[in-house]
Amino acid sequence: MELDTKTLRMLVRVALLTRDYAYAPYSQFHVGAALLTAKGRIYTGCNIENAGYSATNCAERTAFFKAVSESEREFAAIAIAGGKKDEPADYTPPCGICRQVMAEFCGPEFPVILVRSEEEYQIYTLAELYPMGFSPKNLE
Ligand code: THU
Repeated sequence: MELDTKTLRMLVRVALLTRDYAYAPYSQFHVGAALLTAKGRIYTGCNIENAGYSATNCAERTAFFKAVSESEREFAAIAIAGGKKDEPADYTPPCGICRQVMAEFCGPEFPVILVRSEEEYQIYTLAELYPMGFSPKNLE
């Protein structure tokens, strides 16, 4: 799916807005994600922390798991906006586990958009962020 400017800007905005829903009482680091499916639907996700810290779920995985649990399997892009609570977003790269989840469903050209503001964002491919990732191809 073509990532036109209008869609790109929409994803950026939705990631920034979704950040408001973060449940992060332990780190105070709020992250929002907006995941675009190949069919053009957007699934949102925020980080959801837990008193048992390792039970925390990142924003990106929340978005992927919501989408996959609703039968989506093909994705066009993800935008991520993170930063300290009550502070503007800053470029927040996805953690290693989220990169691994992306590698399960997305190819090397999958665009990962790191968002600082509506006007400031950087686009990387999954291959740039996660070279030589373990993927379903390795199990063939
Ligand atoms: N976090 C995300 O939601 N996504 C990332 O890619 C990086 C980290 C969350 C997890 C935790 O709730 C907080 O940010 C601090 O690590």
